[in-house]
Order: sequence, then C-alpha cells, then structure tokens
Amino acid sequence: MNRLVLWMACLTLATPAYANKLSAKAKEVLTMRCALCHGLEGESATAIYPRLAAQHREYLRKQLIDFREGRRQSDTMNEMAKDLDDAVIAELADYYASKPALASRVLDADLAAVGKYIYHKGNAFSGVPACASCHGEKGEGTAQLPRLAGQHPRYIETQLLEFNKRLRNNDNAVMHTIAAKLTALETHAVAAYLGGLK
Ligand code: HEC
Ligand code: HEC
Repeated sequence: MNRLVLWMACLTLATPAYANKLSAKAKEVLTMRCALCHGLEGESATAIYPRLAAQHREYLRKQLIDFREGRRQSDTMNEMAKDLDDAVIAELADYYASKPALASRVLDADLAAVGKYIYHKGNAFSGVPACASCHGEKGEGTAQLPRLAGQHPRYIETQLLEFNKRLRNNDNAVMHTIAAKLTALETHAVAAYLGGLK
C-alpha cells in the first residue's frame, strides 16, 4: 500500500501540471518551440526574450495574432506564429497568463529612481504622460494594456525604440507619440524601474 502511494507520488511529480490542461497540439508547440526562448513558465531566462508569465491573456492573444498576420513585425515571431490557429493561440495565451509574475534585481537604484518618477509623474516639461495612468500604479496593465512590471529592461527599451521608429505599428498611435518624447536617459531609467517591479 505504502509502495503504491509512493509510486503515485512519483508519477504526479513526473507529469508537469501543464500537461494536464493543454491539448496535445498546444503542448507540443509550447515544449518544442515557445519554451526554447520564453521558458516553460514564461520566465524567459535570457533578457532579449520578453517575459510572458502573468501577462494578460487578451494582450498575448492579440500580439500572437498580429505576429501571425504580419501586423506586428519580428522575423523570429512572425515565423513562430505563422502556422498557429486561433484555438492554439488562445491556449498558449491562457497558459502563460496563468504563470506567476517575476521581477529582476535592480542593479542601479539611482537610475530606477529616475524611472520611478517618469513612470508615475511623466515629464511635464516635454509632455510625457505618466505611464501609470494607462499601465497601472504597479505596472500591472489591463486586459488590452500590457503588464510591464517585472519585464526585462532590455526588452522594454527595445520596444520603446521600435515604437519610436514606427517598426511596431499594430496598435493605436498612443505609444508612438509617447516613445518619441522620451529621452535616452528616460527610456533607460523607466525600463530599469519596471524590471524590478513585482
Ligand atoms: C527563437 C526565440 C523565440 C521563440 C522560439 C519564440 N519567441 Fe516569442 N518572442 C521572441 C522575441 C525575440 C520577441 C520580441 C519580438 C519583438 O521585438 O517585437 C518575442 C515576443 C513574443 C511575444 C510578445 C510579448 C509582448 O510583451 O508583447 C509573445 C506573446 C510571444 N513572443 C509568444 C511566443 C509563443 C507563444 C511562442 C511559441 C509559439 C514563441 N513566442 C516562440 C523570441 C521567440
Ligand atoms: C494613453 C495610454 C498609455 C500611456 C500613458 C502609456 N502607454 Fe505604454 N502602451 C499603451 C498601449 C495601448 C500599449 C499596447 C500597444 C499594443 O497593443 O501593441 C502599450 C505598450 C507598451 C509597451 C510594450 C510592452 C510589451 O510587452 O511589448 C511598453 C514597453 C510601454 N507601453 C511602455 C510605456 C511607458 C514606459 C510609458 C510612460 C513613459 C507608457 N507606456 C505610457 C498605452 C499607454
């Protein structure tokens, strides 16, 4: 009897939780593809790949459809999403959205303090609005607005530059206008602050 309990416990450990919820197709895409860069838990251990853990499902779903349709351009992600149907996209979005949020250690507290100011108060001198007015006091976002808390600073910075250069144009114009007004220091600082937010 004890042996049976032990054996069942081992079996439970050997079968990760995700295996029970996803369809076979979604599970294969997740483990053979997405996880290579974004991690099995959306943790994206490498700073160039955005974290997906705790990101909003609606936002994730929209981005994946936009990558598939070529409305958001990224050589890597256009390729990754091109053969995904809506059902698999929905499953992957739900999966990553359900994973626990993560944050990075802040390496430069002074820089992060500048970022905190910009994030919560904007820059009245150059017309930068407070990021918090849309992305939330804690960077938590909403269904349509991405969560920024805990995102890799390097990714945040790259995205702000891409909005600025209009490489990323799948959305309304709002982030383009804002990113164009940010100085290099402000961009760097706000990214450093957000990376440390949980
Ligand atoms: C080879 C690495 C790689 C693989 C594999 C990969 N991605 Fe990505 N992913 C990226 C990169 C790089 C970006 C940033 C693209 C950009 O700069 O716009 C990204 C961006 C994204 C975003 C946008 C995140 C945001 O905050 O806007 C989502 C969602 C995403 N990937 C989901 C997936 C899913 C789901 C899969 C599996 C089907 C996958 N990715 C496979 C590298 C990868
Ligand atoms: C008026 C509302 C609004 C304000 C203010 C705003 N944003 Fe955004 N932001 C958005 C929307 C909407 C998106 C989603 C765009 C999309 O769907 O691709 C976005 C997307 C982003 C992204 C991309 C995230 C990802 O996962 O790819 C970053 C980074 C970002 N915003 C940073 C900022 C920063 C930093 C500020 C302050 C300087 C700011 N935003 C202020 C509305 C806003």
